[in-house]
Amino acid sequence: MTPPALEVLGLGVTYGGVTAVSDVSFSVAEGEILGLIGPNGAGKTTTIDALTGFAPHRGVVRVHGVDVSGEPPHGRVRAGLVRTWQAVELFEDLTVAEHLEVAEPSAGVRDVVADILRPGRRVADRGAVGSADAALLDRLGLQDVAGELVTDLPQGIQKLVGVARALASRPRVLLLDEPAAGLDADESRTFGKLLRSLVDEGRSVVLVDHDVELVMATCDRVVVLDFGSVIASGAPSEIRGDLRVQEAYLGLASGRTEDESA
Ligand SMILES: Nc1ncnc2c1ncn2[C@@H]1O[C@H](COP(=O)(O)OP(=O)(O)OP(=O)(O)O)[C@@H](O)[C@H]1O
Ligand SMILES: [Mg+2]
Repeated sequence: MTPPALEVLGLGVTYGGVTAVSDVSFSVAEGEILGLIGPNGAGKTTTIDALTGFAPHRGVVRVHGVDVSGEPPHGRVRAGLVRTWQAVELFEDLTVAEHLEVAEPSAGVRDVVADILRPGRRVADRGAVGSADAALLDRLGLQDVAGELVTDLPQGIQKLVGVARALASRPRVLLLDEPAAGLDADESRTFGKLLRSLVDEGRSVVLVDHDVELVMATCDRVVVLDFGSVIASGAPSEIRGDLRVQEAYLGLASGRTEDESA
C-alpha cells in the first residue's frame, strides 16, 4: 500500500513549562489539501515548526514513508517537506524573481551566500527570468511585479512571494502558515483554486489559515486544534457542524472573547 504523503504520529512540543502541542496525529494523502485550524495560540504554527524541524519535538514524522523525525530542517526540505512563514520572512533587497532563483534546488549554497553578501551582483540580470520561474510567477499572478523589490509590495503580495519561493524548491508536501492573510475575498478564492491545481499535480498541502471560508471551500479534510490538542477532524461539512469546534474556534461559548477566537 502507498504510504501517505505526510504522516504525523504523537507529535508533541514543550516550551519550558508550556505544552504547545500535545499528542497530535494526522496524515495527508498525495493530492490532498488538509486544513489545520484553531484559535490563536492553539498550536498551528508550532505544529508546522515541529514538522519542518524548527522546533524540537516528540513523535514521528514521515514524508512519503520516510521517517524524517531526526532530520534537521534542510534534511526535511530534501525529503520534500517545505513551509512558508506566518510572518513574512523575505530578503529585503531581492526582487520577487530573485526570491525564486535562490530557492531553487539547483541554486548551490555558494550562490545563496553570494546573493546575501553581494545582493547587487545580479542587478544586470534583473528582469531575465528563467522559464520555470516565469511559469511559477505567472501562476501566482506575480509576473507584473517580478522585477520589484519585495519591500515595495503590499503584505498580501509578499505572502504570495513566500508561497512562490516555497514552490520553487519543488516540494512534495507544502505547509502554508496563513498564506491568505492580506488577500481580499476574490484573491483568496483565486488562491484556493491555485492550491487545488497544485495538489492535482500530485503535491499535498497543509493549509493553516484564519480565513474559515477559504479553508472550508478549499480543503478535503480539516483538523482542528485547541490548546495544542486535536479536538476534531473530518470533512469541512462535519467540522462546521461540530459543537466542540464551534465553542473552541468560533468562541460561541465559554467566555472566550471575539478577539481571541479571530
Ligand atoms: N518559541 C516559543 N517559546 C515559548 N512558547 C511558545 C513559542 N512559540 C509558541 N509558543 C506558545 O505555544 C502555544 C502555541 O502557539 P502557536 O504560535 O503555535 O499558535 P497558533 O495556533 O499558530 O496561533 P496564531 O493563530 O495566533 O498564529 C502558545 O501558547 C504560544 O504562546
Ligand atoms: Mg500561528
